[in-house]
Parts: sequence; structure tokens; C-alpha cells
Amino acid sequence: MFKLLFSTSDAWLQTVCSDLSSLLNDHANCEQKASAMAISLLNTFPEKTELSEVLPDLAIEELTHFSMVIKLMRKRNIPFTKPEPSLYAKSMKKLARNPRQDYFLDMLLISAIIEARSCEKFDLLRKGCQDEEIRALYDSLFESEARHYTLYLSLALQSIEKPIVYSRLDALLEKEAEILSGLPITARMF
Ligand SMILES: [Fe+2]
Ligand SMILES: [Fe+2]
Repeated sequence: MFKLLFSTSDAWLQTVCSDLSSLLNDHANCEQKASAMAISLLNTFPEKTELSEVLPDLAIEELTHFSMVIKLMRKRNIPFTKPEPSLYAKSMKKLARNPRQDYFLDMLLISAIIEARSCEKFDLLRKGCQDEEIRALYDSLFESEARHYTLYLSLALQSIEKPIVYSRLDALLEKEAEILSGLPITARMF
């Protein structure tokens, strides 16, 4: 439905695959945050009934992903800790404009882009990681993330005119590419 403007490098894949403990710990946190983001949107926009039709299930699904990652971590004796705040997520959230209607559109589109970026990274991991169990994990998660990014975009299109949605999406995709290409490569999902 849309294309990211920056491709995650092979150097990122090599970095995370050489430190799977850090990757999994960060990923577990990301799943928890994805669930919290869906709940926060429900809290912030109770009048948008279309959100309450789909976001509760999404929040549950993200928590299920969290549980899958945590189980694998436990199996491998990897402790679950809170990583430093993600510069990527922080910079992305800062892109949301203030007036309520703009904030609504921006938060849906930022969520869609973050989900699409996860999907891109899961694809690299399911194809390129040497660890078979890790490849299987990301293969099983890939489709959900693809569904999530289209879901956030379709929520925006339900109540906001298409040209407005796509023009803001293009602007945010450009910003996202700028943000990600400027960040150092570390053994984290983001
Ligand atoms: Fe997820
Ligand atoms: Fe997701």
C-alpha cells in the first residue's frame, strides 16, 4: 500500500544477528509499546468509534507477540530489561502536529510507518538470520505486521479524504527516511 523511502542496510542485519539477546530484549519492548500505543489511541480518541472496532484486537495481538518473544528469551536465559528510550520512536512521535484532527491523522500514519518498518526488518530477519529459531519467529510475525500497517492506514482513510492522507503520508515517509538514515546502527529493532 506504500513504500518506505529508505532500505535497512545489511550492516543492521549483521549487527542484530551477532547480538540476538539485545535484539530480542528490544523487540519484546517494542511489542509491549505497540500494544500500549493502540490502547493510548483508544483513550485519546473515544469519539472515533472506528478505532474501538479494531484496536482492542490489535492491542491483544501485540501482547501475544510480546509473550512469544518473552518465551523465547526465557528459553535462552535472556533477562528482560528496559532498554534506553528509542531515538527512532521518539523522533517519529515528535512529527505529530498539535491540532486534534492533525494529531489524529499523524498518529495513525506514524503508527502505520512504524509497523511497515517492523515488517521490513522482520522480512530481513526471517530470510537472513543464521539462527533457525529466530528465522522461524520472524517468519511467524511477518504477516501480522503487514496487516497492522495497512490497518492503521485504512483507519486514516475511513474518516479523512484520500489526498490529505496521502500527501501527509508522503511527507512523513520522507521524514522517516531522514531519521532512520541518520541514526547509528545498534543491536536493536529500532
Ligand atoms: Fe507485533
Ligand atoms: Fe504490529
